[in-house]
Order: sequence, then structure tokens, then C-alpha cells
Amino acid sequence: MIPNQLIEQLQQAKHLVILTGAGVSAESGIPTFRDALTGLWENFDAEQLACKDGFLADPSLVWGWYEWRRNRVLKAQPNPAHLSIAKLAKRVPKLTLITQNVDDLHERAGSLDVLHLHGSLHHPRCINCGTPYRHLETEPVGSESRIDPPTCSRCKGLVRPGVVWFGEPLPADQWALSEQACQNCDLMMIVGTSGMVWPAADLPYMAEKLDVPIVQVNPTITSFNGLAKFNLCGKAGEVLPKLYAATFSDL
Ligand code: OAD
Repeated sequence: MIPNQLIEQLQQAKHLVILTGAGVSAESGIPTFRDALTGLWENFDAEQLACKDGFLADPSLVWGWYEWRRNRVLKAQPNPAHLSIAKLAKRVPKLTLITQNVDDLHERAGSLDVLHLHGSLHHPRCINCGTPYRHLETEPVGSESRIDPPTCSRCKGLVRPGVVWFGEPLPADQWALSEQACQNCDLMMIVGTSGMVWPAADLPYMAEKLDVPIVQVNPTITSFNGLAKFNLCGKAGEVLPKLYAATFSDL
């Protein structure tokens, strides 16, 4: 089930890069981005909520959506996929973890120095002056979908979610470190991402151009299937613990 050649490559890897997407948090009960509009939100369009114009047009609707998502994350726990990635970091000489996710489940599983390409639900800031806003840890969100965003203590601007919206550039430092890692690794794993959002989806292509073997973990076929040398078809929370055990348990 786990190819021997992959086990050998993982045992010998000097620098492993792992790129994760929404699928890695699916088994923690966090809906994938394209599934996130259920219940209260089913009549909205994710791409319209996740952009600056959408926020400015209706701040309480968009802030309410992000608060709903943030509260789901606060109640969720890391799953065996997050935990296996944190364990892998202790077994390979170097691991760079790049995520498109805006939750903090990798950190709560024990991963350090996670590169967040799309920002974080947990780091809101003023839309005008950028001053960080400190969330109360457990601000309750009831059944109301709309919540007025707080205002900045410095300039009274609206506080916006700390995520990257459609049409915005990625954080330059996180992107530069991700590119550098993909150009200097000797094995790359892509876990639970549809590969539909650029430039993040470009990273595996950068590595593959340099002959880095690509391993994909996903229960469905994605645009990366042709690129990947190893396609491990299944849920990340099942496949990654098996891969870890097959590679390191008897060393
Ligand atoms: P998507 O929602 O596009 O894709 C999720 C992927 O996870 C799909 O390929 C699923 O097959 C896979 N998946 C589902 N359950 C899984 C499981 N248990 N184990 C492994 N894989 C599973 O999410 P992303 O690719 O992360 O950007 O989307 C990338 C970006 O698109 C997001 O970061 C967000 C969105 O637009 C921004 O908000 C800027």
C-alpha cells in the first residue's frame, strides 16, 4: 500500500517540504473552503465573501462569516494527519511546512515555523493602519450570521480578518521562504489541496522542474495526479500515520 521506493526516499530525505490545504483539516471537522458554505451560509458565494470589496460592501456579514469559521476552529482538535506531520519533523533533518489553511491546527499539533500562505483567522488587523487586533479567546458567536467588526483602537478603522483575500498578494516573506524551500528540497508532499488556487498551486511544479519527487495524499483525483510520482489515495488522517509507521517504526 505504501510503495517501498517512497519509504526509502523518505528515509533518505534531507529536506522534506509539505504543502497542505483544507483537506488536512477536514477530519478535524473544519469544512474545506469550497464546502464551508453550509447551514447559515449556504446562500452565499465564498469568493464574494472572501474579498475586500465584499467586506467593504457588507462588513458585518463578512466578519460574521469569519467569526463563525474561527469559532469552529477553536472548538476543533488536530487530527492524526497534523500529528503525523509534527512527528515527521523530528525524523527528517529538515522539514518545511507550508499551509494554505487559515486555522492553527498544525501549530496545535506541535509543528513549528509553519509558513501560512493565506494568513490566519487568528490574527485580525485594522484595514487602514494594520494595527493587530487582539481577539478575546472565546468570543461567543450565537446563531446570528451578522456580527459588527470591532474598530481599531488607534485609528478607529474597521478590523478585518487576518486572511489573504482573493485579489490580494500573498505575504511576501512567507512566499519567498516557500519558494526557496521548494527549490532546495529533495522530497515534496502535497496533502489535501485541490491545486485550484494560484500562486500556491505553482509550488509543486517548481519542485518537480528540479526533479524533486512529488508525493500526493488526497482521496480524490486532482490536477496534481499527473505531476506526482506517488499518489497515495485516501484520507490524510489515515494515510499519513501509515506512511510514518511504515517509514520510521522499525528504525
Ligand atoms: P479545496 O477546498 O479547494 O480542496 C480541498 C482538497 O482536500 C480537495 O482536493 C479534497 O479532495 C481534499 N480532501 C478532502 N478531504 C480530505 C482528507 N480527509 N484528506 C486529504 N484530503 C482531503 O482547498 P484548498 O486546496 O486548500 O484560499 O484551497 C486552496 C485555497 O482555496 C484556500 O486556502 C482558500 C481557497 O480559495 C484563500 O482563501 C485565499
